[in-house]
Amino acid sequence: MEDLDPTYIQAPEHRSDSNFIPNQPEEIPVIDLSRLDDPEDVQNVISEIGDACEKWGFFQVLNHGVPSDARQRVEKTVKMFFDLPMEEKIKVKRDDVNPVGYHDGEHTKNVKDWKEVFDIYFKDPMVIPSTTDPEDEGLRLVYNKWPQSPSDFREACEVYARHAEKLAFKLLELISLSLGLPKERFHDYFKEQMSFFRINRYPPCPRPDLALGVGHHKDADVISLLAQDDVGGLQVSRRSDGVWFPIRPVPNALVINIGNCMEIWTNDKYWSAEHRVVVNTTRERYSIPFFLLPSHDVEVKPLEELVSPENPPKYKGYKWGKFYVSRNRSDFRKLEIENIQIDDFKVKT
Ligand code: OGA
Ligand code: NI
Repeated sequence: MEDLDPTYIQAPEHRSDSNFIPNQPEEIPVIDLSRLDDPEDVQNVISEIGDACEKWGFFQVLNHGVPSDARQRVEKTVKMFFDLPMEEKIKVKRDDVNPVGYHDGEHTKNVKDWKEVFDIYFKDPMVIPSTTDPEDEGLRLVYNKWPQSPSDFREACEVYARHAEKLAFKLLELISLSLGLPKERFHDYFKEQMSFFRINRYPPCPRPDLALGVGHHKDADVISLLAQDDVGGLQVSRRSDGVWFPIRPVPNALVINIGNCMEIWTNDKYWSAEHRVVVNTTRERYSIPFFLLPSHDVEVKPLEELVSPENPPKYKGYKWGKFYVSRNRSDFRKLEIENIQIDDFKVKT
């Protein structure tokens, strides 16, 4: 048995065998968006999306409009990048000034993830707060890092990201309608969106029983759109009882999940599910999430239309940009304290 660097070892209750039912009958919904072309089916699609957001916080979509050639192109070019020697990859390494680019040591809840990543801002440059200090209104610009090789990398990524963003807004509209809100209810929150997308590479791991590709976490964003290859490993914790279920790879589908911002806007009606990635000893796995994030100055708090005296707000608001810069600082390295979580903004009852 090979030794594993102890920084990767998950606590026993978080390991891949904990609370997991491998052969379960229940499937996370797969929704075919071409049904939206049939006026008689539109309302069904909207309510299926709403139900999935409530019950699982996860669903998959087919015929979603992101062309498969754009996806294949990005998959091919990023593999070429990750196969480069480390001295090439660290030329575009993430740093404190521009926290994007290549990184091989992210911590989720202070345990190291078994993966390498490459992060790219959707808007280049992107506007973020200069500091975590709530009183400081200063802003700064952050810029993408692009590798010299492969030469196609930047364009392949930009093309894919444009398609993913378009789909993200379409889904946002459907989610808005599922809540009984106007289609464009959320649009103003994205004028200076901080969306980014990430390429995850999970190499084969000698001890998948001890390490995880990504430890259990909730996404901090509004919604995430994830392209995964056919290897599998993504699992979601069921809202009703916390049991872990696999998100099976479906060819050409994208996995959609609700993030913390949407959970808060809906005052917990929609669920931001914990999820994690299990690795294996033989096959590397790739995934490409697009994280839809609001503008830095957006106050994330339950929507007035969705609260009432019977359903009072469960969260105090927080400024999205300040949350992001606090979080991003702590994801780099092991900290003595747990990093900032949305539960810190729960109204104490
Ligand atoms: C993430 C994530 C899942 C996956 O990057 O936040 O949950 O399958 N990724 O890679
Ligand atoms: Ni995630």
